Amino acid sequence: MPSSIRTTLIRALCLTLYMDVVIGQNLADDRLSLVRTRLQESANRSWELGTAAQALLEIDAPSWSVFSRNSLPPPQQVPSEAQSSVAPVLTLAQEIVGNRSRLNSNAEGPQPLMPDGSAADPAANGVSVLLANWTGQGGQDYAGAARDQLDFLLERVPRTDDGAISHREAEVQLWSDYVYMVPPFLAYYGVLTRNQSLVTEAYNQIRLYRQYLRDDDNLWKHIAMGGEVAEDNGHWTTGNGWAAAGMLRVLATIQNSEYDKNMAHQQADLAHWVGEIHGAIYPLLDDTNIFPNYASRAVNDSGNFYDAAGTALLAATVYRVSLYWGDHSHISFAQRCRETLYADNGNQSHINAQGWLQPVVNPHSFGVEGSRSPEAQAFVLELEAAYRDWVNEGSNGAILSLLLWI
Ligand SMILES: *[C@@H]1O[C@H](CO)[C@@H](O)[C@H](O)[C@H]1NC(C)=O
Ligand SMILES: *[C@@H]1O[C@H](CO)[C@@H](O)[C@H](O)[C@H]1NC(C)=O
Ligand SMILES: *[C@@H]1O[C@H](CO)[C@@H](O)[C@H](O)[C@H]1NC(C)=O
Ligand SMILES: *[C@@H]1O[C@H](CO)[C@@H](O)[C@H](O)[C@H]1NC(C)=O
Ligand SMILES: *[C@@H]1O[C@H](CO)[C@@H](O)[C@H](O)[C@H]1NC(C)=O
Ligand SMILES: *[C@@H]1O[C@H](CO)[C@@H](O)[C@H](O)[C@H]1NC(C)=O
Repeated sequence: MPSSIRTTLIRALCLTLYMDVVIGQNLADDRLSLVRTRLQESANRSWELGTAAQALLEIDAPSWSVFSRNSLPPPQQVPSEAQSSVAPVLTLAQEIVGNRSRLNSNAEGPQPLMPDGSAADPAANGVSVLLANWTGQGGQDYAGAARDQLDFLLERVPRTDDGAISHREAEVQLWSDYVYMVPPFLAYYGVLTRNQSLVTEAYNQIRLYRQYLRDDDNLWKHIAMGGEVAEDNGHWTTGNGWAAAGMLRVLATIQNSEYDKNMAHQQADLAHWVGEIHGAIYPLLDDTNIFPNYASRAVNDSGNFYDAAGTALLAATVYRVSLYWGDHSHISFAQRCRETLYADNGNQSHINAQGWLQPVVNPHSFGVEGSRSPEAQAFVLELEAAYRDWVNEGSNGAILSLLLWI
């Protein structure tokens, strides 16, 4: 057989295998449900709860997530067939706002939704609380709690001279995590209350954070300012994922809103800034398909280790930027990472028999390897939701990634 024909046949075979094996592989329902159960059992810190809520919307109630194609604001009633899938998020909002009034006899005025040393992390629950208000859940003053959280961020938290709101309450510190916790809340608040200046503020906060945190190589540093104790110039993988994922939530919120047309350039910037992170980080991926905890340092450097959590979150953002901006340039990397994360390799699997993602950074001590991470569980759900949506809309970019591969 002439070698050119053989090559063509081999390529066709590869294409078929690729379609079946790589594109066709969802996370099996039983494993997905273990991952979800471990998340719901373990999340208890403010940002873990907010991230869990977002992940649960994306995976179980996608039409209520900003990543749906439905226009925003959402309907004001949850139809009966959606009630059970939205319920965990509304219940969480009820518990948080209920605790706020129970623990604080003077629960009026600017304050975070939950007590926390972080100024930003409690706001991660803002979208759930806004949704509870919007859909007319009774029993709590959801609108008041959301308003107090907003006013707290805008009026009480220290800022840089140019207006970046601090991630911490006690002093100005800028953490990449902030981009996931605060701007999506500001944007959603603005769209629901038809206040465009809040939507613009979501964009401005991201713009400012990028100015402080983006390094020469386009990766984001983890923490700027905060002196010797807090500053972390390292390129924390999860932090780059938080930044990209937060930017995409804001982008999708704008795109589905009445501000889509007159905020086109802000959307283009956000997509470009996500692409910047992807363009910087994916060339660093080694053949394990898992990033180290600090992406730009060798994995065997002292203190560094492989981290599946940040790897999962980043892969989710690759499918999302493909869906919401038609940028498919890193799909082949996301496919590699997802395949590796989902692979069933007995006791070597990245999703273990109990449903925990492994190995992971300690979510409460970002330089140290941990064993169980609530946020990592949420990232797996976000990855699966993003991948599922990408497949449902035609797997755009998959063929391109195949051609680059062969
Ligand atoms: C929060 O959950 C973690 C497990 O993720 C547990 O170790 C910790 O004790 C819990 N903390 C509180 C205050 O419930
Ligand atoms: C609400 O408060 C109760 C009792 O203090 C606590 O067990 C629970 O974890 C809190 N819920 C949330 C969502 O913070
Ligand atoms: C709360 O919901 C009502 C509609 O029921 C809406 O008019 C109001 O703007 C919402 N408030 C916030 C802060 O979203
Ligand atoms: C938009 O929200 C900000 C912050 O709460 C507020 O100061 C401003 O008056 C609002 N604008 C409109 C048009 O409601
Ligand atoms: C890390 O791995 C590289 C490549 O395998 C090797 O060249 C280097 O010596 C290793 N460094 C340490 C500190 O083990
Ligand atoms: C992993 O599984 C293999 C094959 O079933 C077994 O030989 C090995 O002891 C297991 N390792 C651990 C750490 O459980």
